[in-house]
Amino acid sequence: MAPRKIIIDTDPGQDDAVAILLAQASPEELEVLGICAVAGNVPLPLTQKNARIVCELAGKPETKVFSGCERPMFRKLVTAEHVHGKTGLDGPVMKDPTMPLQEQHAVDFIIETLRREPANTVTLCTLGPLTNVGTAMHVAPDIIPKIREIVMMGGAYFEVGNITPAAEFNIYVDPHAANIVFKSGAPLTVMPLDVTHKALTTPERVEAFRNLGTEPGRMVAEWTDFFERFDMDKYGSQGAPLHDPCVIAWLLKPDLFSGRKINVEIETQSELTMGMTVADWWNVMDRPENATFIRDIDADGFYALLLDRIGRL
Ligand code: RIB
Ligand code: CA
Repeated sequence: MAPRKIIIDTDPGQDDAVAILLAQASPEELEVLGICAVAGNVPLPLTQKNARIVCELAGKPETKVFSGCERPMFRKLVTAEHVHGKTGLDGPVMKDPTMPLQEQHAVDFIIETLRREPANTVTLCTLGPLTNVGTAMHVAPDIIPKIREIVMMGGAYFEVGNITPAAEFNIYVDPHAANIVFKSGAPLTVMPLDVTHKALTTPERVEAFRNLGTEPGRMVAEWTDFFERFDMDKYGSQGAPLHDPCVIAWLLKPDLFSGRKINVEIETQSELTMGMTVADWWNVMDRPENATFIRDIDADGFYALLLDRIGRL
């Protein structure tokens, strides 16, 4: 079977980086048409640079990397250096990339690709704020019916927010873009904190990456050493969630996950709950079921997949 065509939209971020490695390590199942950087964890100049660093680490310098929107559609950019560090990939020392950045804007690349490829063949994997995808849909609504599936890391319901009591970071940064995406009618699979917080790192899981004895394995371990301290301090947990790789793992092994198709709407009015994903898990409102909201994961299976694939790089 031909590999599934995907576009990764991302704000690297250590967990984004692990997700990109996972995708790049799975060429039999996934064809990465392009990687689109968006402002999020750190500003755009860093996220586009980090995306290229990770592609070179994966041994894929031919990957097309695009720079996208440098700020949300309406709101001021909020970043997360407190979690990811100044560079966005703090932990190991990283060499500057030598592979080129594409001239074309990421939004134009998304629109052009969806218009060119046959309908229902391209999957959008969003790992950061939805500014690029929301803007593309706003500028060119004709692309919406062409999308096979949008698989996103974002949102939270039972797990509540991580950047405010009500909102998860990716949705909070650009709630208006998220609202466009959730209202678009495109097939949507959501990996919220409800599931990512059930796939925590442990010392054994991190050591397994280090013990691969490869550069990618060492990087994953050292990124995680840095990245996990924030969540461990905040939640008092033994480890931290690798959020974004859940998106790619869904494409590779969907049986690792379970959830249900429900209505999910985005708060864009109240500052108190701005960016909240209002998930009607118990179907009390009888609104359109617009998203498959994932709530559970086989954490051991997830880490086994990650280790196996990253061990191939
Ligand atoms: O809330 C977690 C999400 O925000 C992850 O995608 C992380 O990389 C940050 O972008
Ligand atoms: Ca991210």
